[in-house]
Amino acid sequence: MTFNPLKEKGMPLKKQLRNWHQIVAKPYKKQEVDCYTRTRQILMNGIEVEGWGFKHQFNRFMHNLDKDDRILISQLGRIENQQQMTCNWLCPADQSVLETTLGYEQVAVDLTAWLAQNEPDKYVKETFDFGLLEDFDHLYRYAQFAYMTEGVEPNDIVQGQTDVIVGRPTQHHHNCNGLRLRKHYDKTTASPQTKVNILTVLSGEQQTHNFYAEHGFMYGDHVLRETYAEIKDVEEEHVTMYESLIDPSETMLEKALLHEFTEVCNYYTCLEDETNEEIRKYWEIFLDIELEHLKIVAEMFKKYEKRDPEEVIGSEIIIPCRFKSQKEYVQKVLEKEVDKRLAPNGEYYNKMEEIPEDWASYRIQERAAEISAPSENCIQLIEIYKDRDIVEASNSLKGKEVALLEQGLQTIAVAENTILPEELQVMIDNHEERKEEKEELI
Ligand SMILES: [Fe+2]
Ligand SMILES: [Fe+2]
Ligand SMILES: [Fe+2]
Ligand SMILES: [Fe+2]
Repeated sequence: MTFNPLKEKGMPLKKQLRNWHQIVAKPYKKQEVDCYTRTRQILMNGIEVEGWGFKHQFNRFMHNLDKDDRILISQLGRIENQQQMTCNWLCPADQSVLETTLGYEQVAVDLTAWLAQNEPDKYVKETFDFGLLEDFDHLYRYAQFAYMTEGVEPNDIVQGQTDVIVGRPTQHHHNCNGLRLRKHYDKTTASPQTKVNILTVLSGEQQTHNFYAEHGFMYGDHVLRETYAEIKDVEEEHVTMYESLIDPSETMLEKALLHEFTEVCNYYTCLEDETNEEIRKYWEIFLDIELEHLKIVAEMFKKYEKRDPEEVIGSEIIIPCRFKSQKEYVQKVLEKEVDKRLAPNGEYYNKMEEIPEDWASYRIQERAAEISAPSENCIQLIEIYKDRDIVEASNSLKGKEVALLEQGLQTIAVAENTILPEELQVMIDNHEERKEEKEELI
């Protein structure tokens, strides 16, 4: 049976206002929560932040709205704001910033991998694969600090569902803005799946950026603060990259429709997949709320644009993301594309060896890493703590770290403090030797 959100009955708007006890939910227990309940919670917070922020932009830019409709949009914005609080504050107070950070990067890896495999547009899929390998490397860099700062093992958070190993090195993620901009889809021919996929990942990346911006300074360790700054800047590039895939000629009402539809689709999926009974209740209520939002915005769309909403969002629900382990797919992309870069013409992708010496991104990378790259310093530091870097990877990937680094590392614009493949190999060998020594002493 197909589910057409435009034909479903939602929760009436006057019932959507909740009291503080309902808004501030009981947080999950970090020791017990399933990692994919946490990723849903993180993603839905990002979706709500985008839904809330968009309403404000909408009311600032829409000059031809009737007063009643303007009031209606601001009421919807208030509800988004309340939903955002519920979603974000499901996160418990004793989950550290670094633990939450590992959760954010797990969202990015497993969400983008799912989207890439369910994306009908080949070019958009390639962009998802490209972004995926960058967040994959962020997870590895942050995992070093989680261990050094708090003794947290990666699997305390990712629970063995996501591999943690070097990807495309973070120091190479900094690009000329002109190159990060992608080709946008055509709003008249792109499928609703493509539109929802992009808005979903964009919301996640934007919130990741905001989280690092608001929390990276909360640690005293200077290298960690710099690493947050470095990766936050990459998330800014990811926001730029994903938003540039959207057809800029979409009207504000068309965008409003897509925002509500994206919320509906994501809550629908959360409701289907959630294993935590307490949290599942929120997904159920929020799906009802969003169905009504969609209906309200669809009516405005008909009124002002005299068009059928189905032209934009179709007549069926879309599944933007089922959170599940994507190790096999990610490994495939990693081994094939770790040496991919943004092409100099700014639209496609090239292998590293095809990139000319005057590639604009080299200048950005050289400037950023003039003294050192923080994301490399963290590997220098972990050697002091543990002889070698922290890696949690499937057997099929474990022995390939040095080769992956070799394949992903550039020869131009490489920071002076970079751990080179041969140095990584020495670290790994030393670790093996010292492991035996340590065992003797215990
Ligand atoms: Fe919402
Ligand atoms: Fe990231
Ligand atoms: Fe990202
Ligand atoms: Fe909404």
